Amino acid sequence: MRTCQIAPSILSADFARLGDEVRAVIDAGADLIHFDVMDNHYVPNLTIGPLVCRALKPHVRVPIDVHLMVTPVDAIATAFAEAGATIISFHPEASLHVDRTIALIHEHGCQAGLAINPATPLDCLDHVLDKLDVVLIMSVNPGFGGQSFIDEAYAKIALTRTRIEAVAARTGREIRLEVDGGVKVDNIGAVARAGAERFVAGSAIFGSGDYAKTIAAMRAEVARAG
Ligand code: DX5
Ligand code: ZN
Repeated sequence: MRTCQIAPSILSADFARLGDEVRAVIDAGADLIHFDVMDNHYVPNLTIGPLVCRALKPHVRVPIDVHLMVTPVDAIATAFAEAGATIISFHPEASLHVDRTIALIHEHGCQAGLAINPATPLDCLDHVLDKLDVVLIMSVNPGFGGQSFIDEAYAKIALTRTRIEAVAARTGREIRLEVDGGVKVDNIGAVARAGAERFVAGSAIFGSGDYAKTIAAMRAEVARAG
């Protein structure tokens, strides 16, 4: 069975108590902290930058999973690597030179991910998939928490899983398949069955009264999905 990793998105946390929220969600069983970075340019919303990542880093004993929704990408990716990111994912439309951005993220000692919007074809993985550590399938249009899961993502997750398995068979390299947007206790089993192994969830976790209970319920659904 694949590993199941739950990555709470702090976009839905109480920003007035961000340090406490991050500690609480890690104590509740989070495997990673998903850090949504928006620039009011690539997406119509504005969130947090590397200063906040650096401030949280000492409070975070799990990997920091940075999701860049910014353009241009390279300078901000570098700043997040220096601020303590473990994984940096970006959108191919936001970088003029996708291969160069992947190399830059690796040069800074981080894992690199490509984030694929609902209307972006999987062709963008051609020629770069072997270099990626993560494929991040967006199951909502990026920009806001609390949106509904777009069902078309299931087929895309399955196709991505096939491509990732082909790389593993050929090279032995494991690429993580992460899904982001509208993931809840009641659909996470289906998302896992489609082939995902890392699940971003913002509103479903931070909007619940009991983070540990919600994360445990998510894990149980993934385990049931087999
Ligand atoms: C959307 C972000 C997601 C989002 C997830 O642009 O990338 O990480 O915050 O939030 P929920 O789980 O509420 O859809
Ligand atoms: Zn995200």
